[in-house]
Amino acid sequence: MLNFDFYNPTRIAFGKGKVAEIDKLVPAEARVLIVYGGSSAKKNGTLDEVKAALGGRYVEEFSGVEPNPTYETLIKAVAQIKANRLDYLLAVGGGSVIDGTKFVAAAVYAEGDPWEILLQRGANVKQAMPYGTVLTLPATGSEMNDGSVISRTETASGLHDKLYFTSEHVFPQFSVLDPTKTYTLPPRQLANGVVDAYTHIMEQYLTYPVEARVQDRFAEGLLQTLIEIGPKILQNPQDYDLQANFMWVATLALNGLIGSGVPSDWATHMIGHEITALHGLDHAQTLAIILPTMLSLRRDAKRAKLLQYAERVWHISEGTEDARIEAAIQNTRAFFESLSVPTRLSAYNISADAIPALLAQLESHGMVKLGEHQDVTLDKSREVLEASI
Ligand code: NZQ
Ligand code: ZN
Repeated sequence: MLNFDFYNPTRIAFGKGKVAEIDKLVPAEARVLIVYGGSSAKKNGTLDEVKAALGGRYVEEFSGVEPNPTYETLIKAVAQIKANRLDYLLAVGGGSVIDGTKFVAAAVYAEGDPWEILLQRGANVKQAMPYGTVLTLPATGSEMNDGSVISRTETASGLHDKLYFTSEHVFPQFSVLDPTKTYTLPPRQLANGVVDAYTHIMEQYLTYPVEARVQDRFAEGLLQTLIEIGPKILQNPQDYDLQANFMWVATLALNGLIGSGVPSDWATHMIGHEITALHGLDHAQTLAIILPTMLSLRRDAKRAKLLQYAERVWHISEGTEDARIEAAIQNTRAFFESLSVPTRLSAYNISADAIPALLAQLESHGMVKLGEHQDVTLDKSREVLEASI
């Protein structure tokens, strides 16, 4: 096992009715900004429930955080906070709202240009405004981690950027995980959530063995749970136990636990971010396209773990090693397709013509040595993209 530091200060309030506990979790004197997305939190009553829980506190709202949250929108929240001396943030939504809130929390204290937070990947974040979250979409793990992904459409380079930052100052203080808040999710978002969580586990599990038995078995258990419940959730989105398991899997997939003491990959995510930046695909759609091809083209370096994945996750123990690896990769692709998330660029009307621009984006963002061995060069990314058509 590799050396590691594990730190996670986020309190989780899990279960039906837990929104009411916000009253205990937010300081009594706080001047609160509730941050949310389009209309879902309003329509399904979550926003009203959150406001009721905040009682007599001074509360303002900031709405309109988009899927793939943009700098251009979020910077307006920073201005509102400064103008009205707000001092506590409450994110109500999915990964985009939570990521956006993380950026706002850090940008309020930025010295100079807040976009530097992204350019420096968070290294310049010295403090952040405290905040909590009410999660409405299990997927990203943002509710219990220190990462955030922000898009910007008008950059100096003329490129569309989708960049991440991490900082231990932006862990949420608390996250309310009430599975009933997911009941209104449409099939596309549910399927996206399953694919995103699955890929987070794979990015941290499917590298090379380091005798990290606990992390491996955690990861395999989480993957198997997703395989088991993914299709059922699409059929029964209002099944409490299914949603409860889904929510907790997605949180555990990216809260630092399974990634401690093991190598991690993340090449699929980095290529995926560029596809979203240029073509607007949902985050999870990009992962469904790239992950199976990535595994297939890097099967030599990932051989030992692919065999372990085949046997322990998919129960494939017959046939030659090559046949088992091939079957495990095919099963992964079929699983995503079974959730109605297409796994080919062409299914989203993206052809080979798009590849040079995607590679230029990767290069401009310094994504030229990706993966656990840093051997996913631009040439390798080109191969992956070409094989993903
Ligand atoms: O805007 P509203 O109207 O609220 O609708 C949202 C949005 O359109 C809707 N939604 C959310 N909860 C709902 C609901 N609709 C009905 N009922 C509910 N209960 O779902 C749509 C998508 O929401 P979004 O927050 O964009 O989805 P997700 O949670 O998948 O977040 C994706 C973003 O997270 C980033 C992605 O890159 C992307 O920008 N990621 C963040 C990570 C992190 N912080 O650790 C890691 C991930 O790899 C990922 O990169
Ligand atoms: Zn992801």
